[in-house]
Amino acid sequence: MSLLIKNGEIVTASERYVADIFCENETITRIDRNITAPRGAEVIEAKGKFVFPGFIDPHVHIYLPFMGTFSKDNYVTGSQAAIVGGTTTLIEMCCPSRKDDALESFELWMSQAVGKSACDFSFHMGVSRFDDKTGKQLREIVKRGIGSFKIFLAYKGAFGVDDTELYRILKLAKELGVIVTAHCENETLVAERSKELLAAGKTDPGQHYESRPPAVEAEGVHHLMTFAELTGAATYIVHVSCQEALDQAIAARQRGVRVAVETLIQYLTLDKTCAEQPKFEGAKYVMSPPLRDKRNQAILWNGLRDGLVQTVATDHCPFDFKTQKTMGKNDFTKIPNGIPSLEERINLLYTCGVKAGKIDLHTFVNAASTQVAKLFDLFPRKGTIQPGADADLVVFDPNYRGKISAKTQHMNVDYSAFEGWKIEGRPSVVTVRGQVAVRDGKFVGKPGRGKFLQRKPGHF
Ligand code: URP
Ligand code: ZN
Ligand code: ZN
Repeated sequence: MSLLIKNGEIVTASERYVADIFCENETITRIDRNITAPRGAEVIEAKGKFVFPGFIDPHVHIYLPFMGTFSKDNYVTGSQAAIVGGTTTLIEMCCPSRKDDALESFELWMSQAVGKSACDFSFHMGVSRFDDKTGKQLREIVKRGIGSFKIFLAYKGAFGVDDTELYRILKLAKELGVIVTAHCENETLVAERSKELLAAGKTDPGQHYESRPPAVEAEGVHHLMTFAELTGAATYIVHVSCQEALDQAIAARQRGVRVAVETLIQYLTLDKTCAEQPKFEGAKYVMSPPLRDKRNQAILWNGLRDGLVQTVATDHCPFDFKTQKTMGKNDFTKIPNGIPSLEERINLLYTCGVKAGKIDLHTFVNAASTQVAKLFDLFPRKGTIQPGADADLVVFDPNYRGKISAKTQHMNVDYSAFEGWKIEGRPSVVTVRGQVAVRDGKFVGKPGRGKFLQRKPGHF
């Protein structure tokens, strides 16, 4: 089986040129001018279009028991939404709760994806408890191809680890060379402030922000950085939302702490006023850390441009508005946290970032694909366009004009946080390991074809 993509403008993190890309079976085998298609090859004309490496989302929730309910996508819906949006690989958070067994949880999460995912996938292994058994189990999980852990300093009693556990997890991570991804918010401050707000009768979605202001996140980052400094572990701070938190990470990096920073498309494009909308509309925008004051958007765009922020993810976490977000109608602490965006990350990053002049095309590719591949041991198999790499390619039409709507999305959720937003450009053709999975913006791939990607520690 062979595929030839002709005359596209190839854009990677560092290069931009017009050429043809020839793929055999699952791999890119040749990049050159004027390649002649062999008999039987599928030919895609890409003149006037960009060709990007398949995008990688490093922070996704598909299967997530959380806050008394389950996030809405499964791997059939979630992976199709990802691919239509140009994401050909996703890394899901495997999130056992404190009472769950680590190895059983890893197997449970894996069983949700195998045979259902249309895109390639991996997991960050969540560690929500560290007891006598955990170290041995984590070593086994690393042997099975997981090179990264996930910890929460938030969500007291559910996923959150205490300081003894944090120290032990980071020590083990350092020994194994595993990178630790971390949700940084001070869980005690969140719990105390939430109690105070509720006692004062402040129950609406806008109060979510008041329960976890920037200082709560900044303290979480500072806390993690102290532990990372003393253990020498490599860390990756997920969903950094504001200047205060970013400052803590940069200060730590300057004194030698190994830390990479992720922000989300939501923080780059939405702000706290979204969650303050009346009639409970704001609940659609409740996530943690909360959407911030608008001034932070420029800080994060500039951080990306200047290399202070490494990646842009989604933290995709879909809960229906009508039946799930309403669980918190009279108490904001019961609104399931999350804003779905797996399908929209690339179109929004291009429209609001590249087209708006905030980042260039190389930064766009770097933050949404190449850096992720490098940090999480997928490079150069993923994250770039070169002979030998997987033929995950996004033929992107910069002339497309459209609108985002829940009515047309593939994500299995009853609203869009970006309803009616105009997009300028979209993936017209997407290939996953050499097979066309999107044509004219429509999913035409094979559910279940996605592969589990074995990753090794020691890449950051
Ligand atoms: O609000 C969020 N971010 N929901 C998903 C869980 C998490 O904290 O990543
Ligand atoms: Zn989180
Ligand atoms: Zn998350």
